[in-house]
This record gives sequence, C-alpha cells and structure tokens, in this order.
Amino acid sequence: MSDTLSPIDTAKFVAAKKAVEFVEDGMKLGLGTGSTAAWMVRCLGELVRDEGLNIVGVPTSSRTAELARQQGIKVISLDEAKWLDLTIDGTDEFDGDLNLIKGGGGALLQEKIVATASDQMIVISDVSKQVEMLGAFPLPVEVIPFGWQTTKALIEETLVSMDVLGQHSTLRMNGDAAYVTDEGNHIVDLHLQRIGNARQLTLVLNQIPGVVENGLFIDICDKVIIGHGDGRVTTRDILSGEESEDQIEFAESENIFADLE
Ligand code: 5RP
Repeated sequence: MSDTLSPIDTAKFVAAKKAVEFVEDGMKLGLGTGSTAAWMVRCLGELVRDEGLNIVGVPTSSRTAELARQQGIKVISLDEAKWLDLTIDGTDEFDGDLNLIKGGGGALLQEKIVATASDQMIVISDVSKQVEMLGAFPLPVEVIPFGWQTTKALIEETLVSMDVLGQHSTLRMNGDAAYVTDEGNHIVDLHLQRIGNARQLTLVLNQIPGVVENGLFIDICDKVIIGHGDGRVTTRDILSGEESEDQIEFAESENIFADLE
C-alpha cells in the first residue's frame, strides 16, 4: 500500500483515518495521546484545513496539545468544554469486551478523565494490541511523588490477594530520573502478566493512599478500530456487537506525511 510507510505505521494511519469518519461538524472532541493518536490528530488537522471542519479539541497531554495547535485545531480545556461528544485515543491492550490497558505514554490520568467525560470513546489500534486477557503489558499506575516508595510497597502487598500472575512493580524512569507526568506525578508499572479480574483490580488499586489513577479502562470504550498493514480496517462496536471491514485508500502524496521524521 505504501512505499514510505511501514506496515505498523500504515495500520495506525488507516485506523486513524477511519476513526475521523465518525467526527461531525460542531463536535467537541477528546484528543488522545501516543503515536496512533498522533495520526488521528494529523487526520483531523487535514479535515480542518482542507474541508473547513468545525471542531474543538480537548487534548489529553501537553504533547497532544502542541500537535493539535500545530495542525490548526482549536484547543480548549475540559472545563471550558464541560462534556465531549467523542474521544478518540490509542491503547496498549484491548480485550474482547473492549476493556483496555492505557498509560504506556504516561498520559493515563488525563486520558481517563477525558474519555469518561465523553458520550463515546473510540479506540484506534493495530492488531498486535488485541489480547485474550489483559496484563501482558505492564499496568501503569500514577502515584503522587510524596512517599512513592511506600505507595509502591502497598501496591505490591495488595497484589498478593489479587487474581494476577506477577506482583513485581517498577518505577518508570526517564533516563536517570523518575518519569514525571503532566500533573507532576510518577508512574509505577505493574508486571502482572495476566489480570484475572480487571474490574476488581481497578477499584482496589484506586483505594490505596498515594495512588491517583490506574491504566485500566473498564466499560469506557465503545468502539475499536483495528488497522492492518495492508490498509484494511476492522471496526467493532461493543453495544451492537457488529463488526465491519473496510479498505482505506490513500495517496502517497497526502500532505499528512509531510511532517513525518
Ligand atoms: C498514552 C497511551 C497511549 O494511547 C498508548 O500508550 C498507545 O500508544 P501508541 O499509540 O504510541 O502505541 O495510553 O498514555
């Protein structure tokens, strides 16, 4: 399909391109974070610039805010928007019930707030992120810096009685320093391998003092759009149970590739 895009980038791009078909004039949109979501922001920018699409976006990170502005998308805060029509975001894992692990890019807190404040959440993904059971991807937990080592120890202690395979956790690093989120917090990644009861785990983790939020998104996602390296997209809707497949055509010369490194 593309000489310039790798199969994985093609998959992300076509998923993003399909997702923006669900965007309507006048919508207030939640803009996700990560490499797949960045494709979506570029696709939206193209629609705004070339077709006069009238939308406003609430970004889920400072990175996405910057990209959205560069793309000519009007950025507002969630408090200005109050409620959103649709959020489109990437994911690190999704299961058959469209429950997710997110936060690989460190933006899980704003992502969860924004997705929860939306009528609908569409997740865009390549097929590698589809799993039978969540947990192979380390579960990110955002913790406040004060006493983070105690919080981490409490999390590990709590995991002993949870339906998970591993109980080991690591502080996310950015070079030699602890990773810092947009809210000034740290992230502890839980290496669980398998999460037997994600619904229970998310509630229990959020009860631990020092934990701000965790990356399990349960009953939040409505639709997943899975991109494939050959340009096909599969759209699955959790409510209707329907699944459809399309082929996305795009020209090599689309100016959306212009800013790619
Ligand atoms: C950021 C996220 C991202 O959506 C997730 O990490 C997927 O990223 P990518 O599309 O780059 O694989 O949750 O916090």
